[in-house]
Amino acid sequence: MMGGTADIELIDKKGKRLDGRKADEMRPVTIEAGVLKRANGSAYLEWGGNKVLAGVFGPREAIPRHSQDATKAIVNFRYNMAPFSVDDRKRPGPDRRSSEIGKVAAEAFANVIVLEQFPRASVDIVVEILEAAAGTRCAAITAASVALADAGIPMKGMVASCAAGKAGGKVVLDLAQKEDNFGEADVPLAMNMTTGEVVLLQMDGDLSPKEFETALDYAMKGCKDIYEIQKKALLTRYQRVIEGEA
Ligand code: CDP
Repeated sequence: MMGGTADIELIDKKGKRLDGRKADEMRPVTIEAGVLKRANGSAYLEWGGNKVLAGVFGPREAIPRHSQDATKAIVNFRYNMAPFSVDDRKRPGPDRRSSEIGKVAAEAFANVIVLEQFPRASVDIVVEILEAAAGTRCAAITAASVALADAGIPMKGMVASCAAGKAGGKVVLDLAQKEDNFGEADVPLAMNMTTGEVVLLQMDGDLSPKEFETALDYAMKGCKDIYEIQKKALLTRYQRVIEGEA
């Protein structure tokens, strides 16, 4: 959410950000795949101050039955923010913001999952935001993609997600909390990393066409870095399986 202006210097005279990052630098990201026993696939992700858990269930018979599609599977994505995940306690349960994020994320994954293989089924993706620090939709999509791969769900490619935006008058990669609250724009992006297709692109705030191009360029580079971390998480997961530990 872009919060407008405040008396806060988001970029110092040397061009460094509040947390010391350069404009095109991402916050640290770690991902662990296969963390939930009862899910078909799962992942735990930390991204800066974000802590996110993703579980995948299915493909399984879609319920209620009238939601079934005789030609392909449907994708459900539930994004939920824990009440304790933000500074001001969040009212539990769904709201407009979480419905919106769930909808755009489900549509992003409907583009990559091979749905035709599973008529009448649903693929249910559940993401819990345990701690939020800006960029949770990108964190949620990135974790969900690893969970889908962990579940062995056929996909045309892995989805990686990262945002760029503008804060303190400068285009920056991966906005931190204060940059998101007091910055000028936020552009979350998600891509199919096999085909290069864009599966999600949103924009909050204002950018000139030139700034938008730079932001998109930063976000694409961010997705590439995220993709490498996703692959490592899956390799580690299957190394554990081979060694008989999971
Ligand atoms: O998280 P993301 O940037 O994808 O979505 P947003 O709607 O732009 O929200 C930005 C940030 O605002 C979240 O990541 C949270 O850190 C914070 N937020 C909050 O503090 N309380 C809420 N009820 C919703 C969001």
